[in-house]
Amino acid sequence: MAHILITSGPTRQYIDPVRYMTNGSSGRMGASLAAAAIAAGHDVTIISGPVQVDYPIEARVIPVITTEEMLAACELEFPSCDGLIGVAAPCDYRPERVEGHKIAKTGQPITLHLIETPDVVATIGAKKKPQQWVVGFALETEDARFRALVKLEKKNCDLIVLNGPEAMNAAENQVEILDRAGTSVALLSGPKEEVAAGIMQAIQTRLMK
Ligand code: C5P
Repeated sequence: MAHILITSGPTRQYIDPVRYMTNGSSGRMGASLAAAAIAAGHDVTIISGPVQVDYPIEARVIPVITTEEMLAACELEFPSCDGLIGVAAPCDYRPERVEGHKIAKTGQPITLHLIETPDVVATIGAKKKPQQWVVGFALETEDARFRALVKLEKKNCDLIVLNGPEAMNAAENQVEILDRAGTSVALLSGPKEEVAAGIMQAIQTRLMK
């Protein structure tokens, strides 16, 4: 039995006290992976951005808002976990400065200066111990396999799950799992619950002793 950490859902980056940037990640793939891991007998901790989805009651859920909070929670939790599945869609940018008051309309265009947020999977991947593993996701529209393998390498993942933009906020998914050698380990399609079970099986076969 393993202790698996899962990042799930979107993050938010505030512009002012009431406005924020985010994306359409629903947390459904994270919930399905958590359910598959629990069904396989593992302990699961989920670090989740704001979502409507119901996570399995057996999972411990740590709610976060921003990408920085998601990373901080992962840094605390990962040392006591066997592996990380990074299925969240963290915001990649944040406004350089968050206004303390609601920005008032003036009739003129405004400019937001955005800076990159930290990459959660890459930060954890760079610190993982030899017995720990990290599985990343890649949502690509062109040169999908090549780009996914570049990400796998850059983020020091053991496996990467490649999917298309149709995965976002949908009930079904189609994925290809690639290993560090660039080999296609599995091609899975169907409801996210079934795809998640297939991903868990690949993780167990390839990454768990
Ligand atoms: O670089 P890209 O966003 O396409 O990579 C996707 C993978 O990286 C996913 O596993 C996602 O959870 C992770 N990621 C992250 N932190 C970010 C951006 C992406 O952990 N800031």
